Amino acid sequence: MFWKDKVVLLTGASSGIGEALALAMAKRGATLGLLARREELLREITEKCEQTGGKARYFAVDVTDAKAVAAAAESLRNEFGKIDVLIANAGIGGNNAETRNFNHEAVAKVININLLGAVNAVSAVLPAMLENKSGQLVAVSSLAGFRGLPRSAAYSASKAGMTAFFESVRLDVRDKGVSVTIIQPGFIKTPLTSGRNNKMPFLMELEDSIPHFLRAVEKRKKFAAFPWQLATFVRLGKVLPAWLYDRIFGRAQFRE
Ligand SMILES: NC(=O)c1ccc[n+]([C@@H]2O[C@H](COP(=O)([O-])OP(=O)(O)OC[C@H]3O[C@@H](n4cnc5c(N)ncnc54)[C@H](OP(=O)(O)O)[C@@H]3O)[C@@H](O)[C@H]2O)c1
Repeated sequence: MFWKDKVVLLTGASSGIGEALALAMAKRGATLGLLARREELLREITEKCEQTGGKARYFAVDVTDAKAVAAAAESLRNEFGKIDVLIANAGIGGNNAETRNFNHEAVAKVININLLGAVNAVSAVLPAMLENKSGQLVAVSSLAGFRGLPRSAAYSASKAGMTAFFESVRLDVRDKGVSVTIIQPGFIKTPLTSGRNNKMPFLMELEDSIPHFLRAVEKRKKFAAFPWQLATFVRLGKVLPAWLYDRIFGRAQFRE
């Protein structure tokens, strides 16, 4: 019932988690605005969503282009009257060259897409949500944002920033009818993780991960971290003294 007639703007909808979430929400009756850069993929996913009976529109837009993201949100609102849920999911993993062979441009790219892209999406929907006193902002952050991870400086920074940004916004919109949900997944099999050779602990199948995302949004959870085994390990890592943290987490090789 939650999704029926909800209007959802989803960024990063052309592959991986975004694609699977789009199809799952369409099946449940949501109306979707699907945003990403690759138009051909978006068109195909939009058609699939509509075949399930849902309504869907696509926007071939780069999340770093604030004006284009705002225009996409405006177009969705004009057609359907409102946006109930934003899912800020667009993101890239970056690569570990940025720490091995430090390159500020590579770091800026990850932060621009993962963090500032999500900020652009929030600013495209939040004023109207506040005016309507209704709405939900959802961040697809990561367990990688709990503490700096090896060979992941840009990614960890972008996700830590994303978590802090959405949490701050949550405090600012308390009692204004808008809820904020921060989702912190571990490793999921998608194109983002597919090139890696080393074992990723508690790696999830994409289809097994989707119910976690849906439930977090439906229950308007403030935080949803999964899978629980990795989430517990990472939470423990947060309270370790730096010398012990370095010893344990410094060995991780899941980025190789
Ligand atoms: N897979 C994991 O293990 C995992 C774990 C924790 C968190 N996450 C997060 O989950 C989100 C989705 O990742 P995924 O695993 O599903 O990876 P994915 O399959 O590579 O999907 C990434 C999505 O983001 C879009 N995107 C990237 N750059 C963009 C830009 N500049 N403008 C608009 N869209 C852009 C891509 O579309 P276009 O290329 O068509 O633009 C694509 O739709 C990311 O934020 C990621 O950090 C993933």
